[in-house]
Amino acid sequence: MTKATLIREGTLGVLRIDNPPVNAISPEVTRDLDAALDVFEAAGDLEALVIECAGRTFVAGGDIASFSQPGFSAAPFNAVLRRIEDQDRPVAAALFGTVLGAGLELAMAAHIRVAHPATRLGLPEITLGLIPGSLGTQRLPRLAGLATAWRMISTGKPVDAQAALDAGIVDTLDDDPAGAARAAARAGASRPVRRTRDLTVPAGEDDTAVLAAAREEAAAKPHLPALTAAADCLAAAAEKPFDAGERVEADHFARLLHTPASRALRHIFFAERAAAKIPGLPPDLERREVRSLGIVGVGTMGAGIALTFARAGFPVTLIESDTEALERGRGHIRRTLETSVQRGRMTEDEAEAQLARMSGATDMGALSEADMVIEAVFEDMSLKLDVAAKLGEAMKPGAIIATNTSTLDVDRIAEATGRPGDVLGTHFFSPAHIMKLLEVVRGRLTEPEVLATVMSLARRIGKVPVVSGVCYGFIGNRMAEVYMRESEAMQLEGATPAQIDGVAEDPAWIGMAMGPSRMLDMAGVDVGARTVIEWVESGEGPQDPAYRALCRALFEAGRHGQKTGAGYYAYEGRRPVPSEETAGLAAELAEKHGVARREAIPGQEVFERLLYPMVNEAARILEEGIAYRPGDIDVVWTQGYGFPAWRGGPVFMADEIGLPEIVARLDHYAATLGNDRGYWDVAPLLRELARRDARLSDWRPQD
Ligand code: NAI
Repeated sequence: MTKATLIREGTLGVLRIDNPPVNAISPEVTRDLDAALDVFEAAGDLEALVIECAGRTFVAGGDIASFSQPGFSAAPFNAVLRRIEDQDRPVAAALFGTVLGAGLELAMAAHIRVAHPATRLGLPEITLGLIPGSLGTQRLPRLAGLATAWRMISTGKPVDAQAALDAGIVDTLDDDPAGAARAAARAGASRPVRRTRDLTVPAGEDDTAVLAAAREEAAAKPHLPALTAAADCLAAAAEKPFDAGERVEADHFARLLHTPASRALRHIFFAERAAAKIPGLPPDLERREVRSLGIVGVGTMGAGIALTFARAGFPVTLIESDTEALERGRGHIRRTLETSVQRGRMTEDEAEAQLARMSGATDMGALSEADMVIEAVFEDMSLKLDVAAKLGEAMKPGAIIATNTSTLDVDRIAEATGRPGDVLGTHFFSPAHIMKLLEVVRGRLTEPEVLATVMSLARRIGKVPVVSGVCYGFIGNRMAEVYMRESEAMQLEGATPAQIDGVAEDPAWIGMAMGPSRMLDMAGVDVGARTVIEWVESGEGPQDPAYRALCRALFEAGRHGQKTGAGYYAYEGRRPVPSEETAGLAAELAEKHGVARREAIPGQEVFERLLYPMVNEAARILEEGIAYRPGDIDVVWTQGYGFPAWRGGPVFMADEIGLPEIVARLDHYAATLGNDRGYWDVAPLLRELARRDARLSDWRPQD
């Protein structure tokens, strides 16, 4: 099928792009655009051209998969844009939907832009570690000035139609952009066309300052080379002729495509999309209808989950053990909404509407009509089993029962309902109304249609879902456990929390949003310690008295983190400062458990001991079939744990380092630190892939 065609409407040419679902620019679209321009150029009787799109949006970007094809170049599309702009007859673009990346670049090559008022326009290439490669860096500043161009290109955030009008990016807003673009194109036929390339960048008062600030921002983030490239391109737009700017952009774009950061960010982009797919499901599998929700247990998590569903428009029934607890839960929800209003994240009406969607009860009978329920009561197996049994009885046939447990056996909970096919885990991350990750835990007997339903539902409520099998900690916390283990082991050996967090957070090493000790202080040392204690006591966790001894000792000492004003760190207000007590505790524990203290632990060792055991655990998670694909693990870590997306997640990062190196270092630590507990045993899959010098990211279960 032709993806771009020239249609005649009397004396008007209409160039219509039709490449579902979002009219992305691909090599085929480019080829067809070129052919359609041939037709227009040959038709001397046509007085103007309108560019429009079929379907639900104007061009929403480039086909990102084609960026990785050998020989990919932006040049053919750029030549099409030049051809469009070079026309002597007016060319108008009719914009609606999401006009992003190559879409906005196409629009800016037209002479006239008309947008529907609900249009969003942006250049999101930076989120893939790139700059706009089709003259976005040269045409946008000529239309909107340097400050707006830098903001849009360096953040990747789209603007709404009104802002685009105010900035000069579009010329008119109209409820009927197709009609208005036709009228504007005809009206333009009597005037000389306005080519973006011929404009000079409008002088803003603070252009020198904008460029200096751009350079400074880029210099502060050397791990994102696209920022420096974007600053160079804007400087070129301000100081050089268009053609010279074009060469600057083209050189940077071609180079950026091969940078580790861009490859990593593109990996994450595709991994997030792949994670939503469940292997082996018939494509026509029917989903169950979910129109209403019940939440049992309106504590920290239940409240956040309720907010998430109410925001997405679902009626939510809240269930608590008594009226007092119910009121407490509602109070928590109300305060969260009030804060959102104060911070300008929603209007009062929106907050009211969300509250109005929630009703409360203290009897499970109120859930008899709900299509799905999520249980978020205390993390206590006997309580969970009791609640599960009651839900199994109270809920109508076909209703889905989900548990938010973070560590307990989802299969046992499923069994207790008496209808395990309807049951799965939904492991939300705290704060549940903000964090995007959702681990969807597939039980042994979960019906495929239940899993498929919850995966679609997750998308509807704005989450990034990843399927995990049943195991302790699922994908994310299972890997976090070995990361925390080494963080604490090194503290017993003499490292400080600040040194370890420093390595974790430094972009030159990893670049985590927060290092392990700071994260536990924020989440609550008590929460972490309780989980460890129960795991060990259950007999499943390591029967090693030194295992995460520091976390357990801090808990016993009442140092529960930020909320008690002390944890791994001491706090001056919210500012963490080194704590002598923690250092003293670590030294005492080292003595008690016979751990040798060292003067200093090199940064390289801290880095390796934080990352490599996680990679090893990731390989086990894949071997055991807990995760469907390596990319799922990277999505969990980038969306749920602050692992930098520009590293592509722990698995992708491991591949960049090279598996042979990682296996060699794991073996090295087994030999030097001792391996009585098997902590340094290398997963067979990891060893095998290292032997073949293969990438873990490329591994598939059938290999
Ligand atoms: P929480 O202690 O804040 O809330 C639990 C709520 O359940 C309380 O409001 C309590 O009154 C209510 N509850 C207890 N028994 C009940 C019953 N029989 N019927 C109705 N309500 C009852 O606990 P939190 O932190 O919200 O955790 C809930 C679940 O979510 C746990 O399974 C936990 O492991 C899991 N989780 C917690 C995370 C966190 O960061 N806090 C993260 C992810 C999962």
